[in-house]
Amino acid sequence: MSEALKYVKVEKNNDGIAWVYMNRPEKRNAMSPALHEEMDATLAHLETDPDTKVVVITGAGGNFSAGQDLKEFFRANEGNPAARKRAQQTANRWRWERLYNYDKPTIAMIQGYCVGGAFMQLLAVDFVVTAEDATYSLSEVNWGILPGALVAKVVADSVLPRHALYYACLGEPFDGNEAVRVGMANIAVPKDKLVAETEKLAQKLMLKSPAVLRATKQAVRHVRNMDFGQAYDYLAAKGAEIKANDPEQSYKTGLSQFIDNKSYKPVYGAFKLGTLLTDQSKK
Ligand code: ACO
Repeated sequence: MSEALKYVKVEKNNDGIAWVYMNRPEKRNAMSPALHEEMDATLAHLETDPDTKVVVITGAGGNFSAGQDLKEFFRANEGNPAARKRAQQTANRWRWERLYNYDKPTIAMIQGYCVGGAFMQLLAVDFVVTAEDATYSLSEVNWGILPGALVAKVVADSVLPRHALYYACLGEPFDGNEAVRVGMANIAVPKDKLVAETEKLAQKLMLKSPAVLRATKQAVRHVRNMDFGQAYDYLAAKGAEIKANDPEQSYKTGLSQFIDNKSYKPVYGAFKLGTLLTDQSKK
């Protein structure tokens, strides 16, 4: 990215993982309009950055995010509908539209506080690795608003209705183990293992064909809102798309390496990227 970032930090270590930090640690990474602008631009850039294979969203200073900035996002925009609209659009674009449809795998790494509006990005990413002692809260009810933008919707879509109602109506904090139990996170680990576990998951994802992974995550997301007929049709079309557009030719390569060469077993992982069929075995 060309412009300097102030409220977002990106770290890359030449291993395909881009670590994106919401970076207002002194405000517990509360999301101001300026932070939203920078997150939106950063994610747009990384989606087409050839060196980035997996994006990890996290927060600087030991917290994920204390939600929307009550002063800068809400109060400061009360008398300025245009600024409020712009801030809302940008906030929603990166936290939902971008992340939900992102071409590359995304992971949220959670520690410290994850509050209110931060549930949007929490539930938009593909995977969540959390510290066991992280503190989650849908705090909106405690100060007179409801879980807005799409928070109520994405929470209701992610967990059983009883859990959604309980945490949205009471605003009670819960920890990383509970986030896994109710289905908001995949893995809860002690805080000192958080980075290593997140990296391990990213490494596993990078062993897969990017084209197949992209189509698979899109398929899993989109079939939820289809009936069976639509899903049959959509998945057949998506499958054909992979066969046509996957530079790894994963289907043919995988079949050949299993059936002909007996060189790997798909149950235990994907074939090694960059080991395409020879011309002869393609026939
Ligand atoms: N908006 C604006 N500023 C915030 C926010 C926020 N959401 N959260 C924390 N801050 C600021 C505090 O005002 C304080 O600023 P100051 O140093 O200038 O006084 C600084 O961040 C540190 O906050 P503390 O409260 O001192 O930190 P502590 O670790 O004791 O508590 C906690 C952290 C629990 C997150 C607390 O700050 C809090 O309850 N924040 C509000 C969280 C919230 O309800 N978010 C939902 C917003 S609504 C929405 O997202 C739709």
